[in-house]
Amino acid sequence: MNRREVLKRLGATVTGLSLAPHLMASLDEWFVKEFSKADFGKDFKWGVATAAYQIEGAWNIDGKGESIWDRFTHKKGKIHNNENGDIACDFYHRYPEDIDIIRQLNMQVFRFSTAWTRILPEGTGTVNQKGIDFYHRVIDTCLEKGIEPWITLYHWDLPQSLEDKGGWANRDIEGWFSEYVNIVSKAYGDKVKNWMVFNEPMAFTGLGYMAGIHAPGKKGIGLFQKAVHHVVICQGEGGRILRANVKDANIGTTYSVSAIHPKTQAKKHVEAAKRMDALFNRLFIEPALGLGYPIDGFSYLKNMEKLMKPGDEEKMKFDFDFHGVQNYFRIVSRHSLFPPVMWANQVKPQKLVQNKSDLTDMGWEVYPEGIYEVIKKFAAYKGVKKIIVTENGAAFPDVVENGRIHDTRRIQYFKDYLAQVLRAKKEGMPVFGYFVWSLMDNFEWAEGYKPRFGLVYVDYNTQQRIIKDSGYWFKDL
Ligand code: FCB
Repeated sequence: MNRREVLKRLGATVTGLSLAPHLMASLDEWFVKEFSKADFGKDFKWGVATAAYQIEGAWNIDGKGESIWDRFTHKKGKIHNNENGDIACDFYHRYPEDIDIIRQLNMQVFRFSTAWTRILPEGTGTVNQKGIDFYHRVIDTCLEKGIEPWITLYHWDLPQSLEDKGGWANRDIEGWFSEYVNIVSKAYGDKVKNWMVFNEPMAFTGLGYMAGIHAPGKKGIGLFQKAVHHVVICQGEGGRILRANVKDANIGTTYSVSAIHPKTQAKKHVEAAKRMDALFNRLFIEPALGLGYPIDGFSYLKNMEKLMKPGDEEKMKFDFDFHGVQNYFRIVSRHSLFPPVMWANQVKPQKLVQNKSDLTDMGWEVYPEGIYEVIKKFAAYKGVKKIIVTENGAAFPDVVENGRIHDTRRIQYFKDYLAQVLRAKKEGMPVFGYFVWSLMDNFEWAEGYKPRFGLVYVDYNTQQRIIKDSGYWFKDL
């Protein structure tokens, strides 16, 4: 029975009676678990998200240049089972079928990224017409099927030739990135109105230039700081170029965000949580909002100021139409001697959960209230007009049984997380969309093909797609 049916029945039996407040409160709590799309409002966008490198394959076809992920995955020992995205889901050839599946799932938005190396194989200079044509085909197919294309300009696949010159750690990237954004926005701006500049800058700068576990596999705090500053500038520049080139554009960018809780209320853990919050949640949004780097949360970030040139403060700002939050886990922080500088670490998620089933295949804790907390946190910023959950989802071990995938844990995950999104919405927070990560199982970066995040199962041997029960659940929502 859904909420409306319950209300109808209640109405029939208790008309004229006012329910005790505590009863109303528990009913409310119950209602929030049972919802339909209508409860989120007519202007709420439902979608599925993907990224070029994770699904396209065709890594060296039709003039595409080499990206840092092509280079990184082709090295031994970097990726689980030495897997790579050379073929991935072969979306490059199968996009008509995949976009048709999005329609079958009753999803209105398809969020995907453009591969810089398909458009500009060397990063700058000569444009590859075949790459431009490919995304025109993808966009046209979406529009024919009544699906809105939402483009992410950068989902981590930097051209290798630019990395050879220092990549994000080289200030020249301001020019390189602007050239790329100019070309893409001019090419598709008539047809595509919804744009995101970056996908999770903290992830690709932190994992790629500091931890070295993602492409380009570099390690060093100095490199990381430079990469961060250049990304922050490009974040603003990207927004401005889109604004200039695309009439009626809806412009956003996305961030990885987590609820961060101290292990206990001991001062050292509370301080550790503050530093982690500055680094993981505040580092990219606050400069865009004109607040500068969050030095008050993590004094080490004062070093960022050394990288600033005259005029940078202005360049870092951009008035985004929406901010995309992407939430997968919470972080419980504790003071620690490692890593140095930060003196804070994360309590292992295994130690936080009562049941193993509260961990996903990524080892991430299922913590639905976390999404409510991060929406609330972002909604509190003056200058945040709209929030869209541009990614949320979970990897669980899926098995095919008689041609079906009964992924009940994933369905429960979506129910619980969406209930928290609805809670935020009902409390008046400006959340206007929810995109599932991901449309289909795909190449999960350093983890390879093992974690399956899709609403659609992909058999990588045959490239057969099978809609999972969670996909049908969304279809019927
Ligand atoms: C996010 C990434 C996305 C995907 C999910 C699981 O951090 O943006 O590409 O890998 O995690």
